[in-house]
Amino acid sequence: MAGILSEANAVMKENDTHETLDAAIIMAAQKVEHYEMAGYGSAACWADMLGRNDIKELLGRTLEEEETTDKKLNELAKSGINQRAAQRRSEEEFAA
Ligand SMILES: [Fe+2]
Repeated sequence: MAGILSEANAVMKENDTHETLDAAIIMAAQKVEHYEMAGYGSAACWADMLGRNDIKELLGRTLEEEETTDKKLNELAKSGINQRAAQRRSEEEFAA
C-alpha cells in the first residue's frame, strides 16, 4: 500500500493541470481499490477453505463494497474526466 501511495504522489506531481490531475487521482484511487480487492478476495477464499462461513460472508461483503467503489470510480473517469485529460495533454504536446 505504501508503494501504491508513493507512486500516486509521483504521478500527481507530474500532472499539474486540473484535467490531468483529476484523471491521475482516479487512477491512484482505483489502484488502492484493486489492492484491497485482492486482499479481501484472498482472505474470503481462505476463510471458506477453513470452514469459517461467518468470516467469509463478512469479507465477501467488504469485497463487494470495494468492487462498487471501483465501479463508481471507473464510471467517473469515463464520464469525461479521462477525455478532458487526454485533450489537455494533446494540447500541451501540440503547443510544445
Ligand atoms: Fe476501498
